[in-house]
Amino acid sequence: MKRKNLVVLSGAGISAESGFSTFRDSGGLWDRHRPEDVASADGWNRDMRHVLEFYNGLREQLRDARPNGAHLAIAGLEDRYRVNVITQNVDNLHERAGSSSVLHLHGELTKVRPENGIYDSTGSESEVFDIGYDRVDPGDLAPNGSQLRPHIVWFGEAVPKIGPAISLVEKADIFLIVGTSLSVYPAAGLYRYVPAETPIYLIDPKEVRVRDRRMVQIREKAVAGMEKFIGILENE
Ligand code: OAD
Repeated sequence: MKRKNLVVLSGAGISAESGFSTFRDSGGLWDRHRPEDVASADGWNRDMRHVLEFYNGLREQLRDARPNGAHLAIAGLEDRYRVNVITQNVDNLHERAGSSSVLHLHGELTKVRPENGIYDSTGSESEVFDIGYDRVDPGDLAPNGSQLRPHIVWFGEAVPKIGPAISLVEKADIFLIVGTSLSVYPAAGLYRYVPAETPIYLIDPKEVRVRDRRMVQIREKAVAGMEKFIGILENE
């Protein structure tokens, strides 16, 4: 029998139980840092050192973090489903849990690119490269001679992966949303591309305003929520 396509859209909440703060919960990253300072081109132009330090800190935290039961459960579903993960997260915990198809809508902490390069005008990743968990400092240059910047989508910047993400969502037989406030577009609008007959599940401990009659909310943290979701799949 043909395996069903399970498409997962994850956000910061899935990594909370691995020790990462979410952005918009109380005490979250956007309570402690102004997004316009650390996640915008203006912030970069004003104080590059501060921006690099912010991402150096997150990269160091990522080195020491571990995938949690929710990341592992999603990877484990590859035994029975074709699983494609679309994540807004810049960590690599889905990959480290074993997921084989992970599309990062908002970039990756372990990658960098030149501040003046071809990516921003073409979306080509030929100048993007992996630095693992190393620091980046002012004066660290790309092969093209320009300052290295984090490979992160900042506010006001294009989201080049949204097209491929929509294509995945359009083929979903089951759509699962985990740990996102659905407040940042275009990611928050992806559910609109889910085929009409496809069920939509949403795991979040807080009540999320239901935007589609099909959305079934599992009101749990990610790890417990994934256990319930797997129970639902088994009874399908
Ligand atoms: P948010 O911080 O906006 O939302 C996190 C969601 O996770 C909320 O709905 C929480 O209720 C939920 N949550 C908290 N703890 C949880 C847990 N243990 N298990 C499951 N869910 C939990 O984060 P995102 O929606 O991911 O962009 O934010 C989207 C984008 O905004 C991010 O990718 C980031 C940010 O600006 C960039 O940095 C480019």
